[in-house]
Amino acid sequence: MKSDNKKQGIKTTNQKTTLIENENREYAECVVLKPVGYPFEFNLMDDDFEIKNKELFEEYAREQWLGLVVRENSHLFDQKIIPDYGFEIVTAKPNNSIISENTKIKLITDELNAKKDNNLIRSNIRLHDIVGQTNAKNKVKVITKYLENPESFGPWAPKNILFYGLPGTGKTMLVKALANELEVPLYLIKATTLIGDHVGDGASKIHDLFKKASENAPSIIFIDEIDAIALHRSFQSLRGDVSEIVNSLLTEMDGISENKAVITIGATNNPTSLDYAVRSRFEEEIEFKLPDDNERLEIIKNNLKTMPLNYDLDLEKIVKLTKGLSGRDIKEKILKTALHNTIASDSEIITMKNIDYAINAIKIKNKDVKGMFE
Ligand SMILES: Nc1ncnc2c1ncn2[C@@H]1O[C@H](COP(=O)(O)OP(=O)(O)OP(=O)(O)O)[C@@H](O)[C@H]1O
Ligand SMILES: [Mg+2]
Repeated sequence: MKSDNKKQGIKTTNQKTTLIENENREYAECVVLKPVGYPFEFNLMDDDFEIKNKELFEEYAREQWLGLVVRENSHLFDQKIIPDYGFEIVTAKPNNSIISENTKIKLITDELNAKKDNNLIRSNIRLHDIVGQTNAKNKVKVITKYLENPESFGPWAPKNILFYGLPGTGKTMLVKALANELEVPLYLIKATTLIGDHVGDGASKIHDLFKKASENAPSIIFIDEIDAIALHRSFQSLRGDVSEIVNSLLTEMDGISENKAVITIGATNNPTSLDYAVRSRFEEEIEFKLPDDNERLEIIKNNLKTMPLNYDLDLEKIVKLTKGLSGRDIKEKILKTALHNTIASDSEIITMKNIDYAINAIKIKNKDVKGMFE
């Protein structure tokens, strides 16, 4: 929910954080805090910090910090506890904004340390960076609306969604953008990393992941490359560990109660290879398609914006030459190769000659790979 931008009366306090320097700042939509402890050791107090009621804490926090400027990586001090208890500002949306009566204040408890938690992802990709994939973006819109107001959906809440499609079409990119657009934590796990040395490792990682996500609901779990674990039953007998991980995944997916706002998104190149029980848990399968002519043009233009060299290119021609390639191929195999070829030939300008070089390189490579299986 967007906070309205009307400025209200600003409270001045003797806080150690920066006070308002100008009136033009926006009000904070959301602030995420992490308890960091007391500024010095104090024998009688124990550093543990336990919040029994998150809503009550939010009200208490807003009341004492109303009107303060929140800047990421700086601190807020709770002056009602003596000595002052410190909180690190992990996220302030927008950064350098002011806490208002409408600011949501979220607390990251010990277990969920945004900086240290490997599963918790943050990135600077935004939804508008993703070209095409309208169906997926529409679903993201629904998820966003739901997470803003989970109660309103009742039993009709989005729960489990499967993204599928050819490699390099934007599945992972979309989820990373989603993490940025939302104010909720997003836990990413690559299914390939679940297959560990010890039987039981993967199952316990899945359990921990779902536990963290439901404790911090509303939240999103993203299981990338889910085909790695969700092998078809007929292959699972070959891999005892995989079948254990699949069972754990099924148990956890079913264990999330109706009223818990935890959404699971899976991504795969090949949905038909998924275990049927796992696949049937996903209410919707959304296909990520290869970019059409207009989309390829947009992807090319967007990537050229960040090129370190100037260019003199026939974009329409590149669009034709890249037919059938994914967003990743266009970026990594065509534009990057063309750039490196330009640099290698001591030139300052990328031209169609460099693009042709990249196109030929990809053709040769594809021919070789095809040849291997013929
Ligand atoms: N639709 C798109 N719009 C813009 N860029 C894209 C798009 N699809 C892919 N790309 C580019 O390709 C890169 C790789 O995409 P991404 O990792 O999301 O693919 P993926 O679908 O997850 O592939 P895989 O199935 O191999 O995991 C992105 O970082 C981006 O640079
Ligand atoms: Mg991916």
